[in-house]
Amino acid sequence: MTRKLCTLADLAATGAKEVILDDNGARISIFIIKHGDGVLGYVNSCPHARLPLNWQDDQFFDVTGLYLLCANHAAYFDTATGQCVRGPCKGESLTTFPVDLDGVHVIALS
Ligand code: FES
Repeated sequence: MTRKLCTLADLAATGAKEVILDDNGARISIFIIKHGDGVLGYVNSCPHARLPLNWQDDQFFDVTGLYLLCANHAAYFDTATGQCVRGPCKGESLTTFPVDLDGVHVIALS
């Protein structure tokens, strides 16, 4: 069964959308970002202290829009790979969450 997470339009305001999943009773936060003509998904947990990256709804990008930002201690992540390029967890990576586009919907691949 295909699991629809959000619509592509949901990403329009900030370029990202947080989605809360129920994984057998466990609450998991993921976020989806626009990337080129497609989308990418990451688990919303910073490798530095395992805190959510965002302090505000759907705000995952830095002011330039070029990097993902952990608001806790200013770790910057490459959008395409999730690898930290600056900050306390430099060299570590966000955990990917496989997603794809199905028409206007973002769907989970796992
Ligand atoms: S929790 Fe993300 S940089 Fe510290």
